[in-house]
Amino acid sequence: MSEPLVSRRSATAIAHPNIALAKYWGKREGGGNVPAVPSLSVTLAGMSTTTKVSFDATLVDDELVLNGVVQAPDARTKVRASQLLDRVRAAAGPELHTSRARIVSTNDFPTASGLASSASGFAALALASVRAAGLDWSAEQVADLARRSSASAARSVFGGFVELDGGPTSDGAARAVAGPKSLDLRVIVCVTTEAEKATSSTDGMGTTQANSPYYAAWVADAPESHSLMRAALLAGDFTRVGELAERSALAMHACAMAAGIVYVTGATLAALDEVRAMRASGLATYATIDAGPHLKCLVRASELAAARARLERVPGVLRLIEATPGDGARLVTPQGAPS
Ligand code: DP6
Repeated sequence: MSEPLVSRRSATAIAHPNIALAKYWGKREGGGNVPAVPSLSVTLAGMSTTTKVSFDATLVDDELVLNGVVQAPDARTKVRASQLLDRVRAAAGPELHTSRARIVSTNDFPTASGLASSASGFAALALASVRAAGLDWSAEQVADLARRSSASAARSVFGGFVELDGGPTSDGAARAVAGPKSLDLRVIVCVTTEAEKATSSTDGMGTTQANSPYYAAWVADAPESHSLMRAALLAGDFTRVGELAERSALAMHACAMAAGIVYVTGATLAALDEVRAMRASGLATYATIDAGPHLKCLVRASELAAARARLERVPGVLRLIEATPGDGARLVTPQGAPS
């Protein structure tokens, strides 16, 4: 008899990273991995994580194979993945309560270097493990599960432009606010290293919260930035979205830098200089930077080629990845076709 497309014990999901146009940085008090401020992102087609989860009663521990490498039982990512699986096991039928799982996950872009691999990784893991456990959860429930492992992962569950609630009384819910085609937007990722970053987002924002003299100002300012971004996006105003995105990124990095957390390198700043020089010369380009050294350039489709030609000449930029607004996390059939 042939196997069902998504078997009860095993499922594969694909998810894309997202970049925040209005960023969050810092966690709300009270647990649950809820951001201290709301954020708004775009999910990117062009880079993906594919994750297969197989529950297997013969395993003695969960196993994580990341990009072909078996992770040590106490490796940070493996421990976070097991915590997510524990939540799924607790919600699943009794036969899965003690069953361990094998996770095989592959990224087609640099891992843990500020390209939001944890967002696509935990979104794909959440969806695959929920389905492998036979749970019929909504996208909102899958996003809630993903957020508990990595907050930005909640946004990668949805496609297009997505917001994630944050703040003192927030429950950290995520939702799509506009479809992938609602804004003429292309993203050029300037890859400046293939190495993993030294300080994770979790640690970087923890240190910022504890030590930055500007953290309170950031928390006070970010909700308005988020509302302005939402309005600009819904008005289809590319220029305003770009201006607000660059401002949000620089405010986040200024706040982190004041606590000694520096993600940018010389190559990042050289790319930022070029984005601003392009703008001065009439090309509508804007920059955003996450918790890593890769600059992302926001540009309209019609100016993509001109912007690429200039960014690929920036010293320290190793290569460019082009991305468009894309779809949310989805299941993949054994044949590889989205289900
Ligand atoms: C700079 O969501 O990766 O990308 O929940 O601790 O895993 P953890 O943090 P994470 O932080 C993302 C920070 C950011 C801004 C953003 O995506 O809004």
